[in-house]
Amino acid sequence: MQGVPPEDEIQVEGLEAEIDRPNLPGRVVARHSAEELYDSLASDLLVHSANCVREFGDFHLALSGGRTPFPLYERLMYDPRFRALPWRRTHLWMVDERAVAFEDPLSNFGRIKEVIVDHSDIPPEQVHPMLASLPDAGARYERELREALGWRPKGHDRLDFVLLGMGPDGHTASIFPGSPALHEKDRLSMDVPPPTTVAPAVPRCTLTLRMINASRFIAPLVMGAGKRAMLSRVEAGASPDEVPIAGLKPVAGELRWYLDAAACL
Ligand code: 6PG
Repeated sequence: MQGVPPEDEIQVEGLEAEIDRPNLPGRVVARHSAEELYDSLASDLLVHSANCVREFGDFHLALSGGRTPFPLYERLMYDPRFRALPWRRTHLWMVDERAVAFEDPLSNFGRIKEVIVDHSDIPPEQVHPMLASLPDAGARYERELREALGWRPKGHDRLDFVLLGMGPDGHTASIFPGSPALHEKDRLSMDVPPPTTVAPAVPRCTLTLRMINASRFIAPLVMGAGKRAMLSRVEAGASPDEVPIAGLKPVAGELRWYLDAAACL
């Protein structure tokens, strides 16, 4: 039996094998386990936030809802390695929101508040929920963005870090196939009708692709085999009208995908 590695060692070798990562625009970080992937993303977020605070005195972070990022958000709060995140200097923005009360489990902000806002020392005036139930939510949010970012030197008046997810129909934020938020040239955020491709079918408010693409760092976090097919369409050069996340093209920032092995092709 000498020379034959025990079975658990064989599995470990398998786990360490190179992941066949898809050839997506920007950089691709691929990790075998969810924990490793959250760690990589959280470490990049930490470095990036520290650089922004050093350069500008503050850090503008936009977070998504959906299911995928919540274990990451929890990790940011309980893992001592990420305790240095500069919450006191952070402005917390929403990537998108559903037109429901914050107490509703479908509310992105409601859940982010429970996990992050309520357990950090972020000043309340730096927390920016989207009031998606109001008829002019997009216009209100745009005013708030312009006002808060207007203090920055010209050219730096943009979001610093935008964490995105991807739906099974290729949507990102609440930018669904065929959405006007894909082509909007001026608006930073807008109201959109209920999606027809995924649940829940409630109206939403979303950052536009223009606003997301202007950001300093764009981080789509995509996990699970159910997302593979859409990633291969992005890799094949799908049109953003059909696969909205294919419209991610930073103007002067970085696009870095975070994928687990199951999502890789
Ligand atoms: C939302 C999101 C949305 C989400 C994707 C992925 O409010 O629905 O912001 O863009 O990120 O739908 O959702 P999952 O992480 O649940 O797959």
